[in-house]
Amino acid sequence: MSQMVDLVIFGGTGDLSTRKLLPALYQLHRHGLADRLRRIIATGRGELDTDSFRSEAHANLERFLPRDQWDGAIWEHFRDTLHYVKVEADDDNDYRQLAQLLDAGDAPVRLFYLATLPSLYGAICAQLKNTGAANTHSRVVLEKPLGHDLASCRAINEEVAAVFAEEATFRIDHYLGKETVQNLLAVRFGNPLLHPVWKNTFVDNVQITVAEEIGVEGRGGYYAKTGALRDMVQNHLLQVLSIVAMEPPASLDAADIRDEKMKVLRCLEPITASNVKERTVRGRYDAGAVGGQAVKGFLEEAEYRDAEGTETFVAIKALINNWRWAGVPFYLRTGKRLSRRYSEIVIEFKKQPFSLFANDPNELTNKLVIRLQPDETISLHTLNKKPGLTRNLRLQPVELHLTADSNHKGDSYDAYERLLLDAVNGDQTLFMRRDEVETAWRWIDTIIGAWEETGMPVKPYNSGTMGPNAATALTARDDRNWYE
Ligand SMILES: NC(=O)c1ccc[n+]([C@@H]2O[C@H](COP(=O)([O-])OP(=O)(O)OC[C@H]3O[C@@H](n4cnc5c(N)ncnc54)[C@H](OP(=O)(O)O)[C@@H]3O)[C@@H](O)[C@H]2O)c1
Repeated sequence: MSQMVDLVIFGGTGDLSTRKLLPALYQLHRHGLADRLRRIIATGRGELDTDSFRSEAHANLERFLPRDQWDGAIWEHFRDTLHYVKVEADDDNDYRQLAQLLDAGDAPVRLFYLATLPSLYGAICAQLKNTGAANTHSRVVLEKPLGHDLASCRAINEEVAAVFAEEATFRIDHYLGKETVQNLLAVRFGNPLLHPVWKNTFVDNVQITVAEEIGVEGRGGYYAKTGALRDMVQNHLLQVLSIVAMEPPASLDAADIRDEKMKVLRCLEPITASNVKERTVRGRYDAGAVGGQAVKGFLEEAEYRDAEGTETFVAIKALINNWRWAGVPFYLRTGKRLSRRYSEIVIEFKKQPFSLFANDPNELTNKLVIRLQPDETISLHTLNKKPGLTRNLRLQPVELHLTADSNHKGDSYDAYERLLLDAVNGDQTLFMRRDEVETAWRWIDTIIGAWEETGMPVKPYNSGTMGPNAATALTARDDRNWYE
């Protein structure tokens, strides 16, 4: 029988909770998927009572949910599950009150979602244990960032592991909760047609782009010390890469899938001082225009004037040294204030060995294009005949859409909705295992070490472009282009 769950959100009054977690939990109710969730207990430092918290939640949900998804009857049901307790991270007394509330509810499973500064994770876990708020059926969800390098990540993991077993630890990367990432698994492993060509004999290169229009916004203090490599590549881009490149798993169980992802991360060729200048690009946005609006450069935004060494853009040529992928470059790029917001994976297949057609087919390769945002689509770019009576056969590109609804916007499930449901159900498949996160950090640390050793410059780019010219040169050196 399914066990009931009490969900406790540390940072329940924060931005993440307000914009993402509470709307996702409301949606679980609306979709009839919250029957195992007995209570949602938000915590924060403020002296709120449950009624005021519910009123705030009501106002925020009305603000952040699409109007057509707001339903008063669902809200009333959802509202009754919401509770608030003040918990200062280091106050024993507060944890005892929380423990009492949990004991009184008697839900067998306690799920603690840590959406505060990661530097508090260790203290929170220790207090949960010491005060008996965490019991043997408890689980913990950890938000990013898990450290800023391998050593700090290990330290957090150690502190959490002193209280929660790995099987009870859920490390979030919301990219893994996206419908299309799961669809990628279905397309890859469900179609015998793709199975033989998913390797270096047929794939020319893979590109993963996560492009943002926004600048560092209010996160500048954090971002100035972090940069795009740590903020985006260490988690989102490497997670997506490992799913694209992994071997077929023995089953769809969490352990089997995560074993295969882990093998990919271990095969990433280290980028060192000897090749970092050819294999990576760092950029920083200058003033420009995005979406028709004039915007300031990163260093003009007052708080970051000293952050000359921080990259807001990074491009990397990664190599995976194994039998399947040897010789296939995986080009990764991510940045802020780029020309448009989108995340995309492109698998570009090899060119024909010889051209039969009047127009050059080498320009027109087969590509599988997997769009993760703003819309979630998968399309196969193929070629057929350009219609007409001419004797000269000419090719034209044709896109085959592999998503049932080519623009998945309707009543789609948000990544946080899926991940919260999985955490409630105890399914770890879409969460990162400790060895994955630490192996990813090891690869990232080597790049950062190489940047430091070589004094790798951060090249300016105009806001509203796709990064510095050096990013174009990264692929052009290999006689390839970014797919735009
Ligand atoms: N915001 C996002 O979109 C986003 C995305 C991905 C990951 N994250 C991660 O999620 C975490 C939270 O981010 P956020 O943007 O929601 O931050 P935030 O808006 O600053 O909220 C922080 C939350 O933590 C609570 N808090 C702060 N210090 C505390 C303490 N000493 N003891 C107990 N509670 C404390 C705050 O309570 P009070 O309200 O009472 O101050 C608030 O609820 C961070 O690790 C962040 O990196 C955020």
